[in-house]
Amino acid sequence: MKYLKDKETKELKVRLKWNIFESLREISSIEGKSFNYVVNELLSRILGNTGNKNNMDYYFKEKPNLVFNKKNIKLFHNDFIKVDLSEYMGKVNLLITSPPYNLSIEYGKHNDTLDYEDYLDFTEKWLRKSYELLADDGRICINIPLDKNKNGLKPIYADFVKVAKEIGFNYQSTIIWNEQNISKRTAWGSWLSSSAPYVIAPVEMIVVMYKKQWKRLNKGESTIDRDEFIEWTNGVWTFPGESKKRIGHPAPYPLELPRRCIRLFSYKNDLILDPFAGSGTTLISAYQEGRKAIGIEIDNNYINLSIERIKKELIQKTMLTT
Ligand SMILES: C[S@@+](CC[C@H](N)C(=O)[O-])C[C@H]1O[C@@H](n2cnc3c(N)ncnc32)[C@H](O)[C@@H]1O
Repeated sequence: MKYLKDKETKELKVRLKWNIFESLREISSIEGKSFNYVVNELLSRILGNTGNKNNMDYYFKEKPNLVFNKKNIKLFHNDFIKVDLSEYMGKVNLLITSPPYNLSIEYGKHNDTLDYEDYLDFTEKWLRKSYELLADDGRICINIPLDKNKNGLKPIYADFVKVAKEIGFNYQSTIIWNEQNISKRTAWGSWLSSSAPYVIAPVEMIVVMYKKQWKRLNKGESTIDRDEFIEWTNGVWTFPGESKKRIGHPAPYPLELPRRCIRLFSYKNDLILDPFAGSGTTLISAYQEGRKAIGIEIDNNYINLSIERIKKELIQKTMLTT
């Protein structure tokens, strides 16, 4: 009798496990999310507030430190992953940024030499937070390298898209930014030999993805003209990069990059977010294009640099209009 009971319990357990597995698989197929994503979501709900990386409470802990707030531009001196931005949940129309690339760039506060797995973990954290802040028809334009060839070759772009899809972002397109960077090449691998040559593409990527739906839910005022629309919907953009020396930041992008993304992908008065504001380029561009902007930057020196640049822009605009 006891044997039978044990056998029944065992069978019941197996059936239960199988049912859970099947239900999770079904949810993942209905929702169009990966199996891992569904399991993670379930775990984070069961575990609650335990510091689990999928638990959203973890991402809204730090008090916002608003250091600039004028003319629809808000700049926060905080860690984007930790700062409490709950008032913006579901409100961001377009996120434009270039995150740290983990290429050993000497930023003041941020450690840019993480192990690759830790870098992907960091990527997952800031993308998960971004997902919560975006409106359902919100979009992201992320400027990242195609790959990394320092300390081991890594397909940064491909891994980035994979992480973003796991979180729930939908893929739209990729713009290839040809920076016309014709710096002297020295890393040939095996010179003039098929033994082990290196192929390096002197371009950067701008990944375009969205939260739930690509078509905007409400009508708005577009500010792009005919020629720009025709030229920029061709996914190879050619314009020069920005000088680090001129700006005073180790990795700025040129105003042209956010300007194109803003005009092509957002309406007038939309809310633009840059979680890694750096020298404030996105914020300046958003202001120039008649959008609202919020930026977050962890490093005090870059905060000061941003404020200086934004103030200069505001003064210039006032002088032009008076
Ligand atoms: C590639 S740079 C952005 C440059 C910017 N697009 C520009 O044009 O100046 C990345 C920036 O992210 C900042 N950063 C790194 N980790 C951060 C974090 N957790 N929260 C906020 N800012 C962070 C770095 O200090 C750096 O200024």
